[in-house]
Amino acid sequence: MNLSIPSVQLNNGISMPALGLGVYAPEQQQEVGQAVEAALAVGYRLFDAAAIYGNEKEVGEALRQGGVSRNELFVTSKVWIDDMGFDATMRAFEKSLQDLSLDYMDLYLIHWPKDQHRKETWKALESLYDQGVVKSIGVSNYYQKHLEELFVYANVCPAINQIELSPFCYLPEELDFCKQNNIQLEGYAPVVRGQKKDHPVLVDLARKYGKSTYQILIRWVIEQGAVTIPKSIHPERMIENAEVFDFVLDTDDLARMAVLYDNTRVAWDPRDF
Ligand SMILES: NC(=O)c1ccc[n+]([C@@H]2O[C@H](COP(=O)([O-])OP(=O)(O)OC[C@H]3O[C@@H](n4cnc5c(N)ncnc54)[C@H](OP(=O)(O)O)[C@@H]3O)[C@@H](O)[C@H]2O)c1
Repeated sequence: MNLSIPSVQLNNGISMPALGLGVYAPEQQQEVGQAVEAALAVGYRLFDAAAIYGNEKEVGEALRQGGVSRNELFVTSKVWIDDMGFDATMRAFEKSLQDLSLDYMDLYLIHWPKDQHRKETWKALESLYDQGVVKSIGVSNYYQKHLEELFVYANVCPAINQIELSPFCYLPEELDFCKQNNIQLEGYAPVVRGQKKDHPVLVDLARKYGKSTYQILIRWVIEQGAVTIPKSIHPERMIENAEVFDFVLDTDDLARMAVLYDNTRVAWDPRDF
């Protein structure tokens, strides 16, 4: 099996797979290493890690065992809210890099726009970027108000904004703001952790396109122009989740999905930060 996953180009010219594997698995930490190895074997190259997920060593070990050359991989990590601030972020980055057994990171993100030390944290990311130990830097869970604040002091424009994205968690004005500013969107929790798998509109569309409701949701995220990172520890589901580049949702169906918004979220609401 070798999936063919297209790439997108970030605002700094770096290429990134349009779909990858999320590795947040608090109840399945024992299985994460095997999941990463399985994902590599079927053709995943983008891995979305974070210090707070508590499994960077397992992910790093699996990436080493996987036998895929480093320049084909795209590894993301994120600085957690307890490590905000210039020095703390530099230390957190070093630890993530070591735990992942890497000598550079492809993408490093501020995980949440916690109120204190956003500026110093971004300055630390810019410093790491200048040193070349991270190839792209970005943010996560930043909405327009957080980005406007960042633009005041940033020398480097974020390459990525990773936000929760599904038809049920869809704020078009936030997506538009990123697009206008040339920031690539990355949608997390695209399948809403399975909570909407039996939604009648999704079931209807799944039947029409000959796909699963999970694939309909992932395709919808791709059609918003976002990169996405569904998480699964099951190889057959990893394959299913990546088989979304051979169909297109038509305009009427996108319109049906555009009204599903009900603010269902698996994580905090950035508007509260
Ligand atoms: N930046 C942030 O603040 C933030 C927040 C949350 C998540 N994330 C990232 O985004 C990634 C994805 O989000 P998420 O894990 O919260 O939610 P998700 O990807 O929407 O859902 C994952 C859940 O859905 C199940 N699933 C996935 N594909 C399936 C399929 N085809 N059929 C049946 N079940 C399926 C998985 O089960 P199995 O594993 O058992 O197959 C898992 O329980 C995370 O792993 C993490 O990397 C980032």
